[in-house]
Amino acid sequence: MTAGASVAAAAPALDALPSDVACDVVEAARRAAALLRRLGLAGRQPRNPRSPRRGPRAFREDAPVSSQADQVSRLRVLVDAGIALSSELSLDALLQRIVETAAEITGARYAALGVIDRTGQALERFLTSGVDSETHAAIGDLPHGRGILGVLIRDARPLRLHDIADDPRSVGFPHNHPPMKSFLGVPIVLRGVAYGNLYLTEKAGGEDFSDEDSELAQLLAAQAAVAIENARLYENSTRWLRQFESLNEVGNALASELELEPLLGLVARRLQELVDAKLVLIALPEGDGLRVAAAEGGSTYGATGMELTLHGSKAGRVLERGRSERIDSLLDDPEVDQQATRRLGVHSALYVPLLVRGRSIGVVIAHDKQGPTPVFSEDDLRLAESFGFRAAIAVDLSERVGRDSVRRVVEAQELERARLARELHDETGQALASILLGLKPLEQTAESDDARASLESVRELVISTLQNVRRLAVELRPSALDDFGLVPAVERLTDTFREQSGLQVDLESQLGEVRLPSEAETTLYRVIQEALTNIVKHSRATRVSILLQRKNDGVVAVVEDDGTGFDPGGTRADAIGLAGMSERVSLAGGRLQVESSPGGGTTVVAEVPSS
Ligand SMILES: Nc1ncnc2c1ncn2[C@@H]1O[C@H](COP(=O)(O)OP(=O)(O)OP(=O)(O)O)[C@@H](O)[C@H]1O
Ligand SMILES: [Mg+2]
Repeated sequence: MTAGASVAAAAPALDALPSDVACDVVEAARRAAALLRRLGLAGRQPRNPRSPRRGPRAFREDAPVSSQADQVSRLRVLVDAGIALSSELSLDALLQRIVETAAEITGARYAALGVIDRTGQALERFLTSGVDSETHAAIGDLPHGRGILGVLIRDARPLRLHDIADDPRSVGFPHNHPPMKSFLGVPIVLRGVAYGNLYLTEKAGGEDFSDEDSELAQLLAAQAAVAIENARLYENSTRWLRQFESLNEVGNALASELELEPLLGLVARRLQELVDAKLVLIALPEGDGLRVAAAEGGSTYGATGMELTLHGSKAGRVLERGRSERIDSLLDDPEVDQQATRRLGVHSALYVPLLVRGRSIGVVIAHDKQGPTPVFSEDDLRLAESFGFRAAIAVDLSERVGRDSVRRVVEAQELERARLARELHDETGQALASILLGLKPLEQTAESDDARASLESVRELVISTLQNVRRLAVELRPSALDDFGLVPAVERLTDTFREQSGLQVDLESQLGEVRLPSEAETTLYRVIQEALTNIVKHSRATRVSILLQRKNDGVVAVVEDDGTGFDPGGTRADAIGLAGMSERVSLAGGRLQVESSPGGGTTVVAEVPSS
C-alpha cells in the first residue's frame, strides 16, 4: 500500500468524530497527500516521467534534498502517526507519539510539545523527546512561556532560527538544560484556537531546519490539535453529564428531603466536586451575622458553625448586595476578612448569594480551585449560581415550613388558652360563686363563734381563690381582647400590673377605637404582657411607660423602663421570653427591637402591619 492510500484508509474511522473535527482530519490528510505529491510519492497521482518533479525542486532552493529512501521512511513515520490518531491511544500517549515522530521525521535531536490550558495562561502539558528523565528532573519546573517559547505562544506562527541564542528575544536556558542551537517551532492551531506549540531543536549534522521540516511539523501539529480538541470535547461532554446528574440529584433531594442540613450538605458536596474546589461553605444569616451551616471539602475542620460578621466579611457584603463575585486573589480584596482567610488557608473564591424573590437569604462560598490553575472560571461561577439557586429554594422552603408549623403551634396555643380561660371563668368561677352563695345560709344558722369564724375563713379563701381564678383567666386570654380590642385589653393589663407591682405605669394610646386584625392585636398584647413580666422579674425599675401608636402601614407598641437594663447579646441560652416575642412578631410580618444596656433601662419596640 502506498503512503497516500494509507492516509485514505484511515478515513472510515472519521465517522466516529464530530463533523467539524472530521473536516480537520480530512484537511490534514489532504495536506499530507499534497505533500506526498510534492515529493513525487503520491500513489493516486502516477508521476509522469517526463514532467518535472516539482516537490524536491521547490525544497532544493533553500535546503538539501533528502534521498528517495529517506523520504519514503519519513512518510511512513508520518502516515503511521496519522493512523494513530484514530486508534485508542490516550491523549498523552498520542501526543508523545507525535513529539517523537516530529523528532524522527525532521532529524531533530530534541522535540517538545506544550499544551496551553483553557485559561490560556499556563501550560497544561509539556511532553518531550530526547531529554532523559534525569535531565528532566534536573531542569525542574515546566517552562513558563518566556523567551522564544513565549514568542510562539503570543504569535501563533511557525518560527525557524539558526541559533536560538542569536535571537534578541531569547532569555537563555535554565540551569542543567542541554545546549540547543537550531530551532523550529510551529503552532498547534485549529479553527483559530491555539492549543499549544510543537518545538524541535538541534537538527542532525548541525544543519538548519528546512521548509520541508516546517511543513511536516505543521502537519503533525494539525494532528495534535485534532487530538487535543477531541479530548476536550469528550471532557466537556462528560462534565456536562456530571453537572446534569448532580443538579438532578439535588432537584430530587429537594422534593424528598425534609431536613435542611443534609440538603445543604449535598449541595455543597456536589458543587465542590464539580468545580474542583478545596472547600465549599454555605452560610446563612443568624442573629446579626452569618453562620456556616454546611461545609464540604478536604479541610472543613472548624468551618461548620463558623460565624461571619455582616459588615466585616465578604460573604456579608455579597449577602447585602445580592450579586455573585469571583475573586482570584482574596489577599487583594479589601472587603475580605483576612483573618478568616488565613484560618481556612485559602486564596481564591466564588461568592454566590442565595436569592429568593430578589431577597438574599444566604451565601454559597467556594474556595481554591484544585489543579494547575488555582482560580475559578466564569463557567464555575455560573455552575455555583445554579447550585445556589437550588440551595435558596431549600432554605426558603425549610423556613416557610418552620414558620408555618410555629404559626400553627401559636394559633393552637391561643385557642387552648381561650378554652382554659373560658373554662376557668365559666366552670370554676361559677362553682366558687355557688359556694359563696351556699355559705350564706350556713353563716346565718351557725350557732357557735368557732363555727362562724371557720365559715368566715372559708369565705375569705373562696373569695381570694375566685380572684386568682379570674386573674388567671385574664392572663390566659383576656376576653376584653376578643370583645373590645387591643387598647381596652392593655388598659386592664396595665391596671392589674400597677396594682400588683406598685410601679408607676403610664399608658398612652394613639390608636383610637379602631380594631386591628386579630393576629396583630394578639401579638402586641403578648409582647406587652411579657415585657411587663420581665420588668417585674429583672429590672428593679421605678417607672414604666407604654405607648401604642400608628406608624406607616403598621402599629407600634413601645414598652420602656428605667431599670437596670442588660446586655441583649448575653442573655441566658434557656431564656425564651424575648426569643418568643421576636418569633411571634416576625410571624405576624413585623419586627422586634430590644434596646438595652447595663444601667441604661430597657426599651422594647414591636412593630406589626395593621392590614
Ligand atoms: N426589662 C428588663 N430589665 C432588665 N433585664 C431584662 C429585662 N428584660 C429582659 N431582661 C434580661 O434578659 C434576659 C432574657 O429575658 P427573657 O424574657 O428572654 O428570659 P427570662 O425572663 O429570664 O425567662 P423566661 O423564659 O421565663 O421569659 C433576662 O433573664 C434578663 O436578664
Ligand atoms: Mg421573660
